[in-house]
Amino acid sequence: MPRSTWEPCRDAIRIAPSLLAADFGHIAEAAHDLEESGAERIHVDVMDGVFVPNFTFGTDTVRVLRRATSLPLELHLMIVNPDAHLSTFASAGADAITVHHEVCPNLHRTLTAIRALDCRSGAAINPSTPAQMLEDVLEVCDLALIMTIDPGFGGQSLIPRTLRKVEQVRRAVERQGLDTEVEVDGGVDASNAKACVDAGADVLVAGTAVFKHEGGPRGGVAALQRAVAGGAA
Ligand code: DX5
Ligand code: ZN
Repeated sequence: MPRSTWEPCRDAIRIAPSLLAADFGHIAEAAHDLEESGAERIHVDVMDGVFVPNFTFGTDTVRVLRRATSLPLELHLMIVNPDAHLSTFASAGADAITVHHEVCPNLHRTLTAIRALDCRSGAAINPSTPAQMLEDVLEVCDLALIMTIDPGFGGQSLIPRTLRKVEQVRRAVERQGLDTEVEVDGGVDASNAKACVDAGADVLVAGTAVFKHEGGPRGGVAALQRAVAGGAA
């Protein structure tokens, strides 16, 4: 199965629309429609009803999405014991797999295993988890995801204090001379996108702000891009 092209970002802010806010009855079309939207990749939230109190997509849906779009698919695994499922998600078509620190006692090993599957490795932390928990794994981490809400549901409001952790992680990435991307996820919209970027984020995940935008997903992505550039939302 052909892999999409994944360009690490240093020079530009990337928008990663989350399909959690799309119409689940037309998920393949939603992914396909994002191709002309200016989004750089698609964020796929996988939930197991255990780590978070909600269910979403599994490996079959990832296979459907892989056929529907050539945009990179970044999987955000909000599941316990992700190690057991990494190879299945990778062969289903993931370009990046992000796991949560809170459920990975051997996080360095898990991130290394993701890279060995030819995927970008991602590590996520919840709002109550200190930024320092990522510092000692950044060297094997392509994507550091700071949750700006508690995971499980879309449409929540960004918790402002989490942006301090974005600053801390960004500083750690630079101190260690790495090109790990710093990503924020949860409640990101045109009113706070610039603050996220100013704190050090280079990838913005957005569900509601993209799919519920009055101009549709294209309008939502464009509004976020304008906001980041300092223009009106
Ligand atoms: C929540 C997910 C997020 C969510 C973001 O657990 O990880 O990716 O879809 O949705 P919004 O942008 O609506 O907060
Ligand atoms: Zn997510």
